[in-house]
This record gives sequence, C-alpha cells and structure tokens, in this order.
Amino acid sequence: MRKKIVAGNWKMNMTFEEGQILTSEIVNMYKDENIKDVVAILNPPFPHIFPVKKLVGDVSGVKIGAQNCSDKASGAFTGEVSAKILASFGVEYVIIGHSERREYFHEGNELLAVKVKEALAHGLKPIFCCGESLDIRTAGTHEPNVKFQLTESLFDLSPEDFSKVVIAYEPIWAIGTGKTATAEQAQEMHAALRRHIASKYGKDIAAETSILYGGSCNPKNAQEIFSKEDVDGGLIGGASLKSRDFMDIIKSF
Ligand code: PGA
Repeated sequence: MRKKIVAGNWKMNMTFEEGQILTSEIVNMYKDENIKDVVAILNPPFPHIFPVKKLVGDVSGVKIGAQNCSDKASGAFTGEVSAKILASFGVEYVIIGHSERREYFHEGNELLAVKVKEALAHGLKPIFCCGESLDIRTAGTHEPNVKFQLTESLFDLSPEDFSKVVIAYEPIWAIGTGKTATAEQAQEMHAALRRHIASKYGKDIAAETSILYGGSCNPKNAQEIFSKEDVDGGLIGGASLKSRDFMDIIKSF
C-alpha cells in the first residue's frame, strides 16, 4: 500500500514565533485527533528546520522537509544549502522542482535531475514537482508535457532510488490562484503519470509511488480530490499556514 501524504509548503512565510505556534498546534492536533495513516510533512523555510524538528519531537507521523537543496555537494556556494547539511539536521524530505523554482530561479529539467540525485545520495526523499502552464493546458498537450518532466529529471534513476521519490502534480494555473483542477482532471493526470512510471519501472513500483496533487487545495475540495484512485494526498501552500485548515485536509481521506 502506498503512503498517504499531506505536505505543507510554507514557502517564504512565517516568522520564528509564528512557525513555532503553527507547528505546536499541528503536532498537538495530529496527536489529539489520533491521525494514524497519513504522513504529514512540514516544509518550512531553512532557518525553521531545526526548531520545528525539535518541537515535533518523537511524533513519528510528522516529518520535516526542506523546500529546495543545492545541486552541489559542498564548498564555496554562498547562500546555498546542500542535501548533506539538511540530512545532518534530521530532514527527511526535500521539495525539488517546484514551479516557482522553475520560473523565478530558472531551474530546468537537467539541473533538477542533479538535485534529485544529490538528495538521494544523502538519504533525503525528493518530493518532485511537475505540472503544466495554462497555455499548455489550453493547447491540450499537458499530458506529454508533464510526462516529459518526469522522463528528463527522474528516469535516469535506478529502480531502488526511484522508489524513494514522491511525485507532486501541480498544474501551474492552479497554484495560489484559488482555481483548483477538478478531481477528474487530477485523476486523469495522476493515472497517466502512474502508467508512465510503470512503462519505465514496472507495475509494482508504479503502484507504490505516492502521487500528490497541489494547487489551491483546501479543506473544502480536498475530500473530493483525495477520493480519486490515483491521488495519494496533497502538496499544500496557502492552506498549510493555518493549523486547522491543514489538519482538516489531512482528515479528508
Ligand atoms: P497553493 O500552493 O496551495 O497555495 O496553491 C501549492 C504549492 O505551491 O505547493
């Protein structure tokens, strides 16, 4: 059975104090509301990682992720953070290839392939983001476009490494816009991606790969989206900054 995952992407939000409050509330609700079969991943900005990790303590279903890592192993790269450093702070996941990184920081498929390998080499599990722009959706070429992103950045991995990757399908036109993909649109793409993975790595690995939906997911629409066969959870931006909303999304399965 593949993992159900709800990952919160805080992006560039939350002061130290706000992050501490948000984390404490989430951890307390996760325990009090007896969540058992959904992994919650908190992906705060870098400086929060260590204090957030301390607050989460031994609550095993709540994990820590970073929002990015360097493609370089170490050295004179001012302002960068390596996968090795993240791993040494107890980080388990790292978001790679978010559309905001692709667009604003010009990260392309080739660079992302290097980042994925770097993350895996240090024991981090990549949450690999893919998704199409509105133009591509309107032109009807979204399926080959998104499959190509996987082929270019992931399909060089060994089957063992690939099985550690979580996929997040995030249509760019749905991110932060309040315009969600319909549950049917999400299911259609998730099923296509799973078939694409099966064509490269076989049915078993494809069946075990968690594929998350992201893009204006909230407590009102999560249940319908998560009810689809190939949707294994969500990557949540805005709604992950409010503990009650984030928990209600976790409880939408
Ligand atoms: P959103 O962001 O939920 O605010 O649309 C999702 C994401 O960018 O991961």
